[in-house]
Amino acid sequence: MKFFIDTANLAQIQEAYDMGILDGVTTNPSLMAKEGISGEQNILDHYVKICKLVHGPVSAEVISTDYEGMIKEGKALARLHENIVVKVPMTKDGIKAIKYFTSQGIKTNCTLVFSAGQAILAAKAGATYLSPFVGRVDDINWDGVQLIQQIVHIYAMYGYQTQVLAASIRTPLHIVKCAEVGAHVVTAPLSAIAGLLKHPLTDIGLAQFLADHAKAAQSN
Ligand code: G3P
Repeated sequence: MKFFIDTANLAQIQEAYDMGILDGVTTNPSLMAKEGISGEQNILDHYVKICKLVHGPVSAEVISTDYEGMIKEGKALARLHENIVVKVPMTKDGIKAIKYFTSQGIKTNCTLVFSAGQAILAAKAGATYLSPFVGRVDDINWDGVQLIQQIVHIYAMYGYQTQVLAASIRTPLHIVKCAEVGAHVVTAPLSAIAGLLKHPLTDIGLAQFLADHAKAAQSN
């Protein structure tokens, strides 16, 4: 399973990358705004900065909602860097745009996915990645991980090449549960990735090892 970080924060991207476990980055307009990035050129420059930090796919989302706008914007994003993946919302125009980008060899990430039906459409259009929003499905008392499982099952049955990229991940447990049901990629905030490190028995065991080592050193 690949690990992407879901943020536009350069320090957090660097921290995850330095751990040696990061395969890519996803962003969205809300995450860019959270970092105070605004203005067309600043946004484009920020994507390039992210691409220079990480050797892997970087999802950059179009803002246009009409087909022509998406195509123009997506082409400009794809020109920024070879690792840019154009993130396109799950709409009728979005599906048409994904089909076009795929025909041009431009990688895509179909976002705002909440059902298996939407997932089938995106795969038929040739999306490189599909982003079902696990946490937001859980928020409305449905089962986000079950949605991932359903889509992974359908894609495997038909041999679709689209990779299921579990998004809207909130906790370390979300990551583990998505791994259990076969998500190809998980994109998560740094807090959820770092949370995977934690176990009280690791802390207790390490403290014990160090204490025993110190005792042995004193008795020599
Ligand atoms: O990748 C999509 C993600 O950023 C949305 O997360 O927590 O706003 O639902 P969240």
